[in-house]
Amino acid sequence: MALERTLCILKPDAVEKKKVGAILAKIEDAGFAILALRRVKLSMDVAEGFYAVHRERKFFGELVQFMIRSPVVVAVLEKESAVSAWRTLMGATDPAEADGGTIRKLFGANKGENATHGSDSVENAKTEIAYFFPASEVSPSA
Ligand code: CMP
Repeated sequence: MALERTLCILKPDAVEKKKVGAILAKIEDAGFAILALRRVKLSMDVAEGFYAVHRERKFFGELVQFMIRSPVVVAVLEKESAVSAWRTLMGATDPAEADGGTIRKLFGANKGENATHGSDSVENAKTEIAYFFPASEVSPSA
């Protein structure tokens, strides 16, 4: 196992439902260190750029409109095997298919409004973290 970092986004639905504190508590209880944290309202350009890999998907427009609807919270999480550990804690993309106790099961509504985002690989995590945080804004590991 290796110490990894991953990007976490608390999506507009989670922020609107005032679940930021509850989700961050679950993250810390699961042993992640939060190395950077910022609340931000995404512009259309930033949301489209972040999800550029999905540009050809039929849900792309809906996804971008959702992500700019209201503020999100972006965070850098660190832990052993953080990429897979955060994806496990989030649960399946579709909250209806997510395991009990996962964040998407608890707080997500559907495939689009599913409370959280997590990087899907160590390589993509590096790109996604750099997209939101200059290195100077990411604290050193404890
Ligand atoms: P996320 O991990 O943020 O990465 C891409 C997102 O696309 C994904 O979470 C889902 O929220 C979203 N998504 C996937 N499938 C659909 C869909 N059928 N309709 C709307 N959004 C979707």
